[in-house]
Amino acid sequence: MRDVSLPTDLLEWYDRHARDLPWRVSPAARQAGQVPDPYRVWLSEIMLQQTTVAAVRDYFLRFTTLWPDVHALAAAPDEQVMGEWAGLGYYARARNLLKCARAVVTEHNGRFPDDHDSLLKLPGIGPYTAAAISAIAFDQAETVMDGNVERVMARLFNEATPLPAVKPTLKSHAAGLTPPQRPGDYAQAVMDLGATICTPKSPACGICPWRSPCSARAAGTAANLPAKSPKKPKPTRYGTVFLGRRADGAWLLERRPDKGLLGGMLGWPGSDWASEPIPPMPPCNADWQALPGEVRHTFTHFHLILTVMIADLPQSCAPRVGQFLPRQDFRPSDLPTVMRKAYDLSQA
Ligand code: ADE
Repeated sequence: MRDVSLPTDLLEWYDRHARDLPWRVSPAARQAGQVPDPYRVWLSEIMLQQTTVAAVRDYFLRFTTLWPDVHALAAAPDEQVMGEWAGLGYYARARNLLKCARAVVTEHNGRFPDDHDSLLKLPGIGPYTAAAISAIAFDQAETVMDGNVERVMARLFNEATPLPAVKPTLKSHAAGLTPPQRPGDYAQAVMDLGATICTPKSPACGICPWRSPCSARAAGTAANLPAKSPKKPKPTRYGTVFLGRRADGAWLLERRPDKGLLGGMLGWPGSDWASEPIPPMPPCNADWQALPGEVRHTFTHFHLILTVMIADLPQSCAPRVGQFLPRQDFRPSDLPTVMRKAYDLSQA
């Protein structure tokens, strides 16, 4: 028989300790009848993929101020949405965000579907996000797995097998616990437990609502779980970017192709990124000077070291690539972080 005391104990804890998050309907408000807005749940879950709550908070507030509902977002210009996403990383999310908003408007009359399979068909919505939206927005008994939930399950059941091999086992433990009552609050409660008590280092087991049933606590292994298979070291790639400015203050920038890293984002023209520094081809002839220092940035699969070249360009300059962006249209905050670092180096 299903053990009901584990979810019940966690929900009681959540009722007292739920984090106050801008996309969340508090457990008290929910019990008083307030229903979550699927648009806000969807937007927050896309933003929270591979990204911390602290990094997402301000972006979420700005997006929902600019675009309070899915119709407003669907009607927004691509460049504006990409610019507002700049700095949050994983830019394919922003391109899919717009595609998804437009699909919800054109194919679903502006209402997010409530079933897992229809959600999965929308751009940018994979199994995690479909489960999170069905649980949190529509209170369906879906099991939501993220890094927090995996850690909590690995400890509760003292699973020593390393990630990623142990994932299916953790998922079946989590599925066995998901309750039919308040599954949306329960999903958020497990996330909050992982984020605030069952933390990666120094978990606060003494105040955990699951301290008695936790097998890792009994075995003294909690802080070492989940085990992880050793990661391959990241390779380093090298490249060059060209920051060219005309006397009228216009900067030479390019919109990167939709496919590939930083797809659809604004950036400085530059070389390919290769495992050895390669002689770069400037976007136009000018007296290019290398700035002292370099830009370092880490992506998911590699470290990048960029040389930054700078030049004053003549008004007559006809570049091979990119376009001049008038001074008043250039906002450094529209640049993805690696390109922003190059700009900051030029202003240092
Ligand atoms: N991480 C992913 N989704 C989340 C949510 N809804 N609340 C808090 N943290 C999360």
